[in-house]
Amino acid sequence: MNEKKILIGVCGSIAAYKTAYLIRLLKKQHADVRVIMTSSASGFITPLTLSTLSKNPVLTRFTANDQGEWNNHVELGLWADIFVIAPASANTLAKMANGICDNLLLAVYLSARCPVYVAPAMDLDMHKHASTQANMRKLQESGVKMIDAEYGELASGLTGTGRMAEPENIVSIINDFFSSGRPLQGKKALVTAGPTYEKIDPIRFIGNHSSGKMGVAIARQLMAYGAEVKLILGPVNDFFDLESISVSNVISADEMYELAKEQFTGADITVLAAAVADYKPRIFADSKIKKNKDNLTLELTKTPDIAASLGKKKSDGQIIVGFALETDNEFENARKKLYSKNFNMIVLNSLNDPGAGFGHDTNKISILDKDNNTREYELKSKTGVAKDIVDAIVENYF
Ligand code: PMT
Repeated sequence: MNEKKILIGVCGSIAAYKTAYLIRLLKKQHADVRVIMTSSASGFITPLTLSTLSKNPVLTRFTANDQGEWNNHVELGLWADIFVIAPASANTLAKMANGICDNLLLAVYLSARCPVYVAPAMDLDMHKHASTQANMRKLQESGVKMIDAEYGELASGLTGTGRMAEPENIVSIINDFFSSGRPLQGKKALVTAGPTYEKIDPIRFIGNHSSGKMGVAIARQLMAYGAEVKLILGPVNDFFDLESISVSNVISADEMYELAKEQFTGADITVLAAAVADYKPRIFADSKIKKNKDNLTLELTKTPDIAASLGKKKSDGQIIVGFALETDNEFENARKKLYSKNFNMIVLNSLNDPGAGFGHDTNKISILDKDNNTREYELKSKTGVAKDIVDAIVENYF
């Protein structure tokens, strides 16, 4: 769990004493742990105990001090790789299920982009009550993962299901999350996305319709699978939430080429989804070209072929996945590019398929590899397509 960012939420329950041990186990595995407590939790265990064990200040309120500084719940929600609420009381589960946001823990839950796990702890009758069961089902439907309460003796003296899972079991679930759900953990990935613009004069350029959506979706999927992702993005600026991806913005094919050469070193996986202009004006006019002739001839010269150049430099163990955007002889042209650019796989999208290619939120692809396999996929969202592509990479090479 080296340096994994684990956010622990603690609610008011006698089981809060077990959270001290949970934090100790996580710290032993070198996790970076931060803790948020509800105000009732601090009646069961002190913030001082948990801040000493986690080696970080414990947060309990929206405001950090009497000067009105606030604990930024959005920042906490984005910081965490995983958010584990243990113990999760019936009260907090009910509020989570209904979007209530009257304390810092709940605000962080609503802001978190990482997976959220809850370890319920309560008396057996509260646990089996129809409302609690309905709240837990509702949370699971919205993607929250349950760490089931265990059977045993409860604080009330009764015996039944309601004990918070043992800290060792919670640690094992967290370990499974970091290994199995993230098959590209520790891998480095490079993605190109978007168009390039080749300047004609200070006003005009040669460009294309790429929106960057396909490449950005792939970068996000690689990141979700645990890879450290660098994204070289052409001139599109519709993407606001790429915080964990290292983004370099470029404009021209030359700029994309220089950065890609540099960032390719050390990349285990490279996906080239950018629509790079193949030609640029041979001469850039320093001032606006005047409209004083009926015809104007622009002399064009080739841009660097980024894909072919990386394909030449590729060493054993590096995987390159290219794209082919075609309008005719699609499969034949894609297969030629697969070999001439030394890709491991190529993703073909054809402008003849409605909903595929540029701009749309959807795409329809086929994946071709060097063993002559061709896999055709349905039209689906670019997020779904990105998952298919990254799953194919994982299946074939990792
Ligand atoms: O951005 P969106 O609106 O979501 O649209 C997605 C997309 C249609 C742009 C994307 O799915 C796609 O097909 N990208 C590749 C487009 C393209 O330039 O295809 P190509 O067949 O011309 O190029 C073949 C491969 O060589 C591509 O991986 C391309 O990135 C790469 N290339 C091409 C020319 C060049 N000078 N350098 C390159 O690296």
